[in-house]
Amino acid sequence: MTSGRSFYITTPIYYPSDVPHIGHGYTTVAVDALARWHRQAGDDTWMLTGTDEHGQKMMRAAAANGVTPQEWVDKLVTEAWFPLLNTLDVANDDFIRTTQERHEDGVKKFVQAIYDRGYIYAGEFEALYCVGCEEFKTEADIMDGTGPFEGLKVCAIHSKPLELLQEKNYFFKLSEFQDRLLELYRERPDFVQPESARNEVAAFVQQGLKDLSISRSAFDWGIPVPWDESHVIYVWVDALLNYATAVGFGSDEETFERRWPAHHVVGKDILRFHAVIWPAMLMAAGLEVPRGVFAHGWLLVGGEKMSKSKATGIAPETLVETFGSDAFRFYFLSAIAFGQDGSFSWEDLSARYQAELANGFGNLASRTVAMTARYFDGAVPTPGEYTDVDRAIQRTVADAAAAADAAIDRFRIDEAIRAVWTIVDELNGYITDNEPWALAKDDAQRERLATVLYTCNEGLRALAVLLSPVMPQATAKLWDALGAEPALGALEAQPLREAGAWGLLPAGAATSALSPLFPRIEQAD
Ligand code: ME8
Ligand code: MG
Repeated sequence: MTSGRSFYITTPIYYPSDVPHIGHGYTTVAVDALARWHRQAGDDTWMLTGTDEHGQKMMRAAAANGVTPQEWVDKLVTEAWFPLLNTLDVANDDFIRTTQERHEDGVKKFVQAIYDRGYIYAGEFEALYCVGCEEFKTEADIMDGTGPFEGLKVCAIHSKPLELLQEKNYFFKLSEFQDRLLELYRERPDFVQPESARNEVAAFVQQGLKDLSISRSAFDWGIPVPWDESHVIYVWVDALLNYATAVGFGSDEETFERRWPAHHVVGKDILRFHAVIWPAMLMAAGLEVPRGVFAHGWLLVGGEKMSKSKATGIAPETLVETFGSDAFRFYFLSAIAFGQDGSFSWEDLSARYQAELANGFGNLASRTVAMTARYFDGAVPTPGEYTDVDRAIQRTVADAAAAADAAIDRFRIDEAIRAVWTIVDELNGYITDNEPWALAKDDAQRERLATVLYTCNEGLRALAVLLSPVMPQATAKLWDALGAEPALGALEAQPLREAGAWGLLPAGAATSALSPLFPRIEQAD
């Protein structure tokens, strides 16, 4: 059921130096929702996530825990990073680890290829390095330390001291790509999104690019440089290549042809790696650049970027245990404009859960299913003649479906959900206005009652389809209660781009009891 249009989308590969927090969960559910949408729309979809396991940060985390780097990443990936995908109900197609052979082989081939093409040279280097970022820092990213770091130079992101490194390194001729990158941003205005990110990247490249140190010789936890095994490949070069090696670069040209290029979704902290260094590396190798890079904002805690290194990380399970994975997904994807920062608070999550999920969507579903049971023995009634108010609902559904698909095309999941939510709000108002319970008392209004309840059930059919990429569990439950499957097939097989059509749920569909989609939360103290 694919249209042939390839849609390959990736999350960053995360450092398993520590356990995941809700920032990692946020990116992952966003990418999963986009992938589910495209998959269900019939696009030839592939979603990749994974872990970035080499580098100094990992070595130190392992050393601090008295184990080897390999033991450390194996433990963290198995105990924390794989389970995260279950916790958040993520349907990824693949999971790449940079310590896998398929990756290491592909990386060596790629680096050798750009070496052979003359884009790598040996040189001498001295600069300030942030192990948290795994990056050499330039002036603009360096700050004066405060408190315990008074008098030291610290990283603007991590607020931790930088280390002066002096090494013989191999360099990538990044500076040669300045003009081609600027041309790329000009010719494809949506290559970097949102616009604020594009402007930032273009301004950065405009200032001029320095060649990039791409090897390290002071430690050995990495992939050896193929022509000089006394060096390992710089962890970011290694990491970026996961997007290519995971879909067959260097091993399966047919799959690579089919999937590449990718859409990358990343946090804005790692925008430059993806929008500057990565396309330049691909250009050097003579490969196609990505389809696009979308940089989302940061989850903030107390006004600062949530992070493990600052001990502000919140574990995704904490929220999922209380609210469920659907609510986690809905909350982060709807409450924050995708591309901007957002402050997380337990109170905000609770309030939106109650208002939008329990009282809004959940109540609409419960009322409709209960009234269909009571007034029509659970069989979806045949609608009579439609009036203007019914046709207004049909228009709302059609418009919402079209607007949501357009929003997803722009990666604006929040706008897609907002568009779909007009159906929830309008249908709840429609029930209040049409008072089916009053119609039910008057035999002469039997046909009108049937039309009103058909409209509610059919509206819910559309909602189940349109919301399934965001809330797979609640919508599956609803699909079941609507009795939709026998006539229409499985929920995940419903063509998303046709969800706004009217009259798909057949009259006579056998509905069944529905326990609350979003149960009341016991207030913990
Ligand atoms: O940077 N708000 O891995 P990482 C929103 N391994 N998103 C957040 C976040 C926050 N407070 N904190 C983290 C790396 N993230 C590299 C990537 S890719 C080739 C290599 C999310 O474990 C966000 O997606 O530090 C961010 O870009 C990513 O986690 C960084 O994860
Ligand atoms: Mg980080």
